[in-house]
Amino acid sequence: MAVTININGKDETIDAAPGTPLLWVLRDHLQMTGTKFGCGVAQCGACTVHLDGEPVRSCSIPHDALDGGKVTTIEGKEGKAAKAIRDAWVNLNVPQCGYCQSGQIMSAVALLEANPKPSDQDIDDAMSGNLCRCATYMSIRRAIKQAAASL
Ligand code: FES
Ligand code: FES
Repeated sequence: MAVTININGKDETIDAAPGTPLLWVLRDHLQMTGTKFGCGVAQCGACTVHLDGEPVRSCSIPHDALDGGKVTTIEGKEGKAAKAIRDAWVNLNVPQCGYCQSGQIMSAVALLEANPKPSDQDIDDAMSGNLCRCATYMSIRRAIKQAAASL
């Protein structure tokens, strides 16, 4: 059954197999490859997108549960917090291999949209579900603080 999901401000009608995770709809049906596959079981955060403004793991959400929902991906995320995070990421050269970074950025932007002045504990809590094999954690924390200071 086709479902309609608003993705980055545009209604997309998706005709995929029942239960297909949102991640594969984004990557395979819509060619939005900025959202990455890591673990597939909601443990690494590489696939983080926003659903109705909240960060979620797209690998573990069936697309057909989202009829009428509003999804934002790394390709479409805009706003003051997103710009501040992107600028800080570039200023501080946060990425190493880069694989986890779109998920990291989506979680960081969601944090600043909800809490523009996060404490260290707030940052740890918000980012704890995003893993990085290159261990960019300290750079990520510095970049979130720099972005928060610029808002
Ligand atoms: S791929 Fe979704 S959390 Fe790891
Ligand atoms: S930058 Fe390589 S996995 Fe995070």
